[in-house]
Amino acid sequence: MNVIVVTNYARMSEEAAKIVRAQILKKARSVLGLATGSSPLGLYSLLAEYHRLGLDFSRLTTFNLDEYIGLAGDHPASYRRYMQEHLFSKVNLHPEKTLVPNGMAPDLEQECLRYEELIKRCGGIDLQVLGIGVNGHIGFNEPGTAFGSRTQVVNLTESTIRANSRFFSSEREVPTQAVSMGIKSIMQARSIVLLANGGRKAAAVAAAVNGPVSEDMPASVLQLHPAVTFVLDQAAASKL
Ligand code: GLP
Repeated sequence: MNVIVVTNYARMSEEAAKIVRAQILKKARSVLGLATGSSPLGLYSLLAEYHRLGLDFSRLTTFNLDEYIGLAGDHPASYRRYMQEHLFSKVNLHPEKTLVPNGMAPDLEQECLRYEELIKRCGGIDLQVLGIGVNGHIGFNEPGTAFGSRTQVVNLTESTIRANSRFFSSEREVPTQAVSMGIKSIMQARSIVLLANGGRKAAAVAAAVNGPVSEDMPASVLQLHPAVTFVLDQAAASKL
């Protein structure tokens, strides 16, 4: 596991952006796995900046980790909308190559299978961007999720609902379920970069990097991956 510790959020975003840019330059047809939340916002704004300076996104395919069930793509708190706002509208990705699970699909089981199949058909993910939840979740894979899991419907824990309620007008509006790529889907990415900043992530980061590998701490599975980089600010690294 490669752990990079930098001084602050801006530096964390720069390190991550360098890694993503290197992947795009190495392989123009890369398949990128993307995350939402506040951690990758700086990364996405730098990628938009690189695009203004000439970086071409036109041959990439992107797969987002997850989406809330019951939110349409244009709902202000949906992850599709987040991606549209922070990245997709700012670079020259082809809209049909920006994949996000459909949380409004009439048959969600079918949607999970379809998503997993699409990833396979695109040749798998070259570089997966991850954040980490305060309870160690990756994607929306909460503690206790099987390491063998594929894209599936998941129930959100109370702590995640509380943490994510800041994107909604009240906690009651936060969906209780999501479609999320599974732990196995994430682990099949050829390389992974995880971003974490702030002291509230420090315990989860320490458990992920140094703790026992356990389904109770989903991010600890990354210790078993051959090409993972954690990019942390000092506060998130403070318990390492
Ligand atoms: C959500 C997302 C995760 C993300 C996590 C942390 O639950 N499903 O993919 O990593 O939040 O978010 P933040 O970066 O805002 O702390």
